[in-house]
Amino acid sequence: MQADIQGVGRSEWATYAELAEQLDALLAGEADVIANLANTAALIYHGLPALNWAGFYLMRHGSLVLGPFQGKPACVRIEPGSGVCGAAVVRRASVLVPDVHEFPGHIACDSASQSELVVPMRRDGEVIGVLDLGSPKLARFDASDQAGCEALVAVLLRHLGNAPL
Ligand code: SME
Repeated sequence: MQADIQGVGRSEWATYAELAEQLDALLAGEADVIANLANTAALIYHGLPALNWAGFYLMRHGSLVLGPFQGKPACVRIEPGSGVCGAAVVRRASVLVPDVHEFPGHIACDSASQSELVVPMRRDGEVIGVLDLGSPKLARFDASDQAGCEALVAVLLRHLGNAPL
């Protein structure tokens, strides 16, 4: 499996089913939350085409705080309701943004980002963080990306169990 993960190169993109399988193997037997979030961000960033950011914001005392990610340095704190990430928290659902310039309140961490997909991480109904993907391409993400990323978050949440984030 390790060879498969390393074999996902820029000209050989993984499908979501393959990524879910690779993620499951990558997280198996490891309980450290930071390590697992970091490896999840890296697997997604290098496994999907046309991303410029992939990572996590984690809920800390009612605010989202930057977690493990791949991409350029990003804003550290986001309030619920603010930006795409904060919208996903308030809606408790994924937010698909084909053109970030059309999204009121979008927070531009990297001016190259044109489209974005944010998937909430829910535990016992509560949002404990979000997975945020950004792309330099307009309309990079569609409903199948949303479903695929929700499946990846489900794999991650299963491995995290009840571990405090
Ligand atoms: N664009 C996000 C902020 C996070 S960065 O893109 C990494 C938002 O509007 O919530």
